[in-house]
Amino acid sequence: MISTLLSRSAGPDGDTAPRLLFGADYNPEQWPRSVWEEDVRLMREAGVNVVSVGIFSWARLQPTADTWDFGWLDEVLDLLHEGGVGVDLATATASPPPWLTTAHPEVLPVTATGETLWPGARQHWRPTSPVFREYALRLVRKLAERYRDHPALVAWHVNNELGCHNVYDHSDDAARAFREWLRERYRTLDALNDAWGTAFWSQRYSAWEQILPPRLAASHPNPTQQLDFKRFSSDALKDHLRAERDLLREITPDVPVTTNFMVMGNTKGMDYADWAGEIDFVSNDHYVHPGPQDRDELSFSANLTSGIAGGRPWFLMEHSTSAVNWQPVNVAKRPGELARDSLLHVAHGADAVCFFQWRQSAAGAEKYHSAMVPHAGADSDLFRAVAELGATLKALAPVAGSEREPAAVGIVYDWDSWWASEQDSHPTALLRYRQEALDWYAALLRLGIRADLVTTRSDLQRHQVLIAPVLHVVPADLAKTLTRYTEQGGHLITTYFSGIVDEHDHVWLGGYPGALRDLLGIRVEEFAPLLDGDAVELDDATTGTLWTDRITVTADDTDVLVRYRTGEQAGRPAVTRRPSGRGTAAYVSTRLGVDGLVTLLPRLLEPAGVRSELPEGARGSVEPVVRRGPEGRFLFLVNRTDDDVPVPGLDGEILLGATDTDGTLTLGPRAVAVLRQPAS
Ligand code: GAL
Repeated sequence: MISTLLSRSAGPDGDTAPRLLFGADYNPEQWPRSVWEEDVRLMREAGVNVVSVGIFSWARLQPTADTWDFGWLDEVLDLLHEGGVGVDLATATASPPPWLTTAHPEVLPVTATGETLWPGARQHWRPTSPVFREYALRLVRKLAERYRDHPALVAWHVNNELGCHNVYDHSDDAARAFREWLRERYRTLDALNDAWGTAFWSQRYSAWEQILPPRLAASHPNPTQQLDFKRFSSDALKDHLRAERDLLREITPDVPVTTNFMVMGNTKGMDYADWAGEIDFVSNDHYVHPGPQDRDELSFSANLTSGIAGGRPWFLMEHSTSAVNWQPVNVAKRPGELARDSLLHVAHGADAVCFFQWRQSAAGAEKYHSAMVPHAGADSDLFRAVAELGATLKALAPVAGSEREPAAVGIVYDWDSWWASEQDSHPTALLRYRQEALDWYAALLRLGIRADLVTTRSDLQRHQVLIAPVLHVVPADLAKTLTRYTEQGGHLITTYFSGIVDEHDHVWLGGYPGALRDLLGIRVEEFAPLLDGDAVELDDATTGTLWTDRITVTADDTDVLVRYRTGEQAGRPAVTRRPSGRGTAAYVSTRLGVDGLVTLLPRLLEPAGVRSELPEGARGSVEPVVRRGPEGRFLFLVNRTDDDVPVPGLDGEILLGATDTDGTLTLGPRAVAVLRQPAS
């Protein structure tokens, strides 16, 4: 569907040939009319061909409950269209205006401790408020009816970053909607009582009205209640997305609808794998958190976005040209990083590279957040770098529309397991689901081995190896799928705290790792987590932290690959592998971190014959990313270092970012090279 978008967005000359999109959030309401024309002129200069408009314009579009002001937006859209810039038009429902929250304070969200989130910032609305929904849909209808035939309109942008600030609402509206959601899920109170294990601590419900969101309680709230509340909260926002989308589809059936996800860092409230099917193309926002793993994290998030999009092209809706404003210290990007970060997203399937925002605000909470046109104006290094990126993306037009070529290795990412494994009252409070997955991904990057992030909803059979770190929630069906996967020749690798509970967060009995115990041919009677700072040595010279298991091998054909050398489990298995049908199933019982996984992975990957595609000297310095399109095979190589990196032995026409001397490519510092190879 993103291809529809591409063809809807004609270039300044009416050209509808596939190309990559380039642009930003554009907030003209923050500027006088005189600036708009300069904006469009500079957009053309920079090669901008799409902008998102109206994201925070509600108060301007509807100054009071009964008055509307579209004149300014008409003019903005006309100007953009004349300038050849397509518009991803926001439904403007992200931040309700003061008149609405004054008249209807009952739309304001409430925290678990009963505090109201007052107006004054943004996104102060309850996802389940019928009053908010009514006002929001009224606005959406007005916008859709007014702009349905506007030639600048290329896509609809529902709300903005749904759940960024309001995912967990504990209000009475939320309580009512939670009960409805639970009735739908469980049908009877008995089924709910069973699923929630309410025999424990005298929690048995005798009427639906007794059920509440997990508000501040005297001790640990019921774990299944907590898990269901997370599922419900994700669904409540998804329901809002659907309501806006349905209205848009009714009025403008041909205009694709998206909303910007936040696949990044610790944003975990929204199950985007579940949401992806609701929109016409996936969009994502990503911001770098500077730190030792920021390169890995950027790649991981872009890769996961591609997995959520099913390998199809997606839209990078926001990232930053330089510093943000919301970290403790907001570091500017170094020369080359603006382009490299952008192109890394393209390497992972983005067909659009957009920023927050076009022109840096002079007032408001984000006035120190970078933009495409900084406070210094267009006569700035930053704007020159922006324009250069625009030209680069133009040169990469042949890449547009191409899909991700599946990698041999898939890493399974699962929201249920993320949510459930990090709940309270567990063997350890130190477990970090995303970090474990990121460590496996980072280790593969260091080894120069491509991997795709996939979800439990993906077609898992496409990968020869599946790594499922902390796959904590394993319903019976998933256990069967994984067993079938190995029997048919797949190689499964899983870790500590996997296979432990079913979909209700009930422990699979008989010994851990519960649902995967037979497949793995091991049994654990008791978890043995490690105290913060404690570590154990393994006999392959790696070190484990966080967790150990007291493993008993239960099948004759289970191999012990690595044993504990120190600690309580000294001499016992740490890493095991067992044949299963034509494949294998391996288990890693401790947290090895990136270094340890770099040591272990070659052994784990051996049965599948997976090796690096990069020459040895380039491994770790260069990230290999391959995509394939109808016009050939595009090979993206990302130089992760600040130095030149030679890469011998790769063929292909250089589209970007490298020089070729006698068959050796040289990638400049922080460069992204793109090669086109004939389709195989
Ligand atoms: C996003 C948001 C934008 C802007 C940006 C700043 O969360 O969608 O409106 O606030 O962050 O980094």
